[in-house]
Amino acid sequence: MTKTMLKMLSLFLLISGAVQAQKTKTPESIQEKKIQSLVKKMTIEEKVGLLHANSKFYVTGIPRLGIPEWALSDGPNGVRAEINRHDWGYSGWTTDSATCFPPGTALAASWNPKLAQERGIVLGEEARFRKKDILLGPGINIIRSPLCGRNFEYLSEDPFLISAMTVPYIKALQSKDVAASVKHFLANNEEENRVLVDVTMSERALHEIYLPGFKAAVEEGGALTVMAAYNKFRGDWCSESEYLDRQILRVELGFNGVLMTDWNAAHSTVKAALAGLDLEMGTDIKDYNEWYFANPLIKAVKEGKVPMAVVDEKVSNVLRVMMKTKMLGDKTREKGSMNTPEHQKAAYNSAAEAVVLLQNQGNVLPINFSQLKSIAVIGDNATRKHTSGGLSSEIKSLYEVTPLEALTKKFGSSLKINFVQGYEKQSTFKEGSNIGQSNSNKVDWKLIDEAVEAAKKSDVAIIFGGLNHDFDTESFDKQDMKLPYGQETLIREVAKVNPRTIVVIIAGSPVELTGIVQRVPSILWAWFGGMEAGNAVADVLSGKVNPSGKMPFTLPVSLEQSPAHALGNFPGRDLKVNYEEDILVGYRWFDTKKIVPQFPFGYGQSYTTFELDGLSTDKTTYSKDEIVRVKFSIKNSGSRLGAEVAQLYVSDPVCSVMRPTKELKGFEKVFLNPGETKIVEMMVKVSDLAFYNESKKGWTVEPGDFLFHLCTSSGDLGQTVKIVVQ
Ligand code: BGC
Repeated sequence: MTKTMLKMLSLFLLISGAVQAQKTKTPESIQEKKIQSLVKKMTIEEKVGLLHANSKFYVTGIPRLGIPEWALSDGPNGVRAEINRHDWGYSGWTTDSATCFPPGTALAASWNPKLAQERGIVLGEEARFRKKDILLGPGINIIRSPLCGRNFEYLSEDPFLISAMTVPYIKALQSKDVAASVKHFLANNEEENRVLVDVTMSERALHEIYLPGFKAAVEEGGALTVMAAYNKFRGDWCSESEYLDRQILRVELGFNGVLMTDWNAAHSTVKAALAGLDLEMGTDIKDYNEWYFANPLIKAVKEGKVPMAVVDEKVSNVLRVMMKTKMLGDKTREKGSMNTPEHQKAAYNSAAEAVVLLQNQGNVLPINFSQLKSIAVIGDNATRKHTSGGLSSEIKSLYEVTPLEALTKKFGSSLKINFVQGYEKQSTFKEGSNIGQSNSNKVDWKLIDEAVEAAKKSDVAIIFGGLNHDFDTESFDKQDMKLPYGQETLIREVAKVNPRTIVVIIAGSPVELTGIVQRVPSILWAWFGGMEAGNAVADVLSGKVNPSGKMPFTLPVSLEQSPAHALGNFPGRDLKVNYEEDILVGYRWFDTKKIVPQFPFGYGQSYTTFELDGLSTDKTTYSKDEIVRVKFSIKNSGSRLGAEVAQLYVSDPVCSVMRPTKELKGFEKVFLNPGETKIVEMMVKVSDLAFYNESKKGWTVEPGDFLFHLCTSSGDLGQTVKIVVQ
């Protein structure tokens, strides 16, 4: 038997196995029967019509069988404005302004899965109102390097945190009859050459770091669609990797939804079809009939290169997603709603809970605005709107409140606001190239002098700096980790004349703060905050909201500290990148190599104080199939309502393979009134303490001691309790 015949046989067995499993009478089996009977009625042309787009974001239906056109839309933070059918221009609708949430890093920084759920509900309702069937998000690639242009859109460097936020987001979105499309599968961790770069990594790194978010999305979240990444993985494009798409996604994770390409990321007909790709989107060939999954697929079937059973499998996947989202004549389908006050409140909550208080010497924050006569508001990001940037995640936001607008509205009638520009945006956005960032660090002394004058005559100076979407964007990476536009000099000069200088960083990826941490008392990290950005940050500044965000990534002192850069493998060479740091991504690297970052993963202060105490486990010895019940108390020992994120890390001090110093295995955001104490319980499966054993191609928990650390960041020693696994 030839290799191809073997492949086809195994495919046939796989498909007929799935069909066999569907023979018992459950709602699923009834659904599967309907799917099969629909498939039987289709011509090959009709089948193939369901497997490629007929425009930028739509797929042809089959009206005679009651199958409607399929409508897809970006993106993760809101429902994107309507795009022309056949080009990338906006359609100019007046009804497509939407609610805009803060992007992924801000979502993760809230460490609050309830907010992910809230977001999913809003996105689902707005997508349905706009008659969309699939929303292209969440984007959950690992933040591997501080420079990746799309870090702002993704969530974290830690797979546990990613999974914890992704699952409720997807479940909530899909509860509104809209399919999620979790993206980009897999290893789209840099934008530089994203459509060409070939990524290699160990099986262990794949299973422990890069895959868990997708696994959780599919297995726990029930994600109905997955988007294959642009890049190659071990020599094959992700959209046609037999290993990723068939072996891992279909067999290991049991995914039976739709695997689609990223836009213009299809490269073949036969290879992709056999590997498990279902849907081709965005191909840059004018005649849709000439796309890989159009006429060439019909030809491949006729020539016997792709079995009809494989096409039927794809069509079944499409129909399954349509049924699960109630597209096939179900009158109970969600109708949706748009821009409701509840939606806007959810966007506000998400922005407010994301803000991280990094530093607050002398309790300069919160500001009691009623006692002030004047404030200086400085910096381009005090007035810049960000929701329309970043490329595919851009949103035509119904409105966007800037920090200056919010401060003026809330406090402008009782005090003088001295706004000055402080620094100018010197970069330009150039799609596909970071050249627009070049030479963007000129110090403008005229603007700095103005800022110094404003700061001198004001009680407090607030500098809104950081980045914008010329840096944090799809399609290219940052050139470095510096604060651009001469901001460091501006901040230093302002701090010299006003000891009550607060820096607010608006950015979605790590920037170097070394030059300013010693110079200013207070630093807030406020992310790109979506439509309610200004209101959220103003309320944190005033103390109406007590900051409770925690960094979802490590903030290195300098770029060279972070693993991919320390090892010189970002973005790779000759269009190849090998992830040599292996499983030591983010804090796993910093902890294990004993490198002290600027601010650790999981770090964030509050206006109140907390005491965590009494860490214990229900037993001391566990077998491999048991659950460890961890208990502790947490008290708000200060005088304001606030929330602490209790983080549970685990280490395996003696193991036959290298293990990171510690890994996040649980967390809970606990809200407490002043003086209040709560008892918190967390559960960790012993099986979740395993490492991926490359020689056994599976997970292994080695018997012995494990240490559970209760911390408030990865940089905190916390309290430790030991358990024994038998
Ligand atoms: C992005 C995807 C996006 C798609 C459609 C691609 O360039 O990588 O994340 O969903 O475009 O806009």
